[in-house]
Amino acid sequence: MLYEAMELSELIQVFKRKVVIEDTAILIVWLNDQVYAIKDRCTHFGASLSKGTIDQNKVTCNSHGASFDLATGQLIHKPHIGPLKMPAKDTKTFPTVIKEGKIYIDL
Ligand code: FES
Repeated sequence: MLYEAMELSELIQVFKRKVVIEDTAILIVWLNDQVYAIKDRCTHFGASLSKGTIDQNKVTCNSHGASFDLATGQLIHKPHIGPLKMPAKDTKTFPTVIKEGKIYIDL
């Protein structure tokens, strides 16, 4: 089902934004002229990915460095404390649709 998330022009200005739709926190990112929507919860200890860093095609969690592919949700780098790597898993992404200047997310 499609849910209206925000205006595309607003996302282009702010680059990233956290929204909550149907109790699901989602990070929306404008990158390389595309919109990405990824679950805003790190699969390691649940930190908000919207507080993380966007770099090329991924978002990196600020807590322990886990990074996820914005398009697929695939875990790219495992979380770590110093040299100690820790387990985490892939996360969820959501299809987006742009219609009449608004971003819709398919939940
Ligand atoms: S909570 Fe995200 S890397 Fe630990």
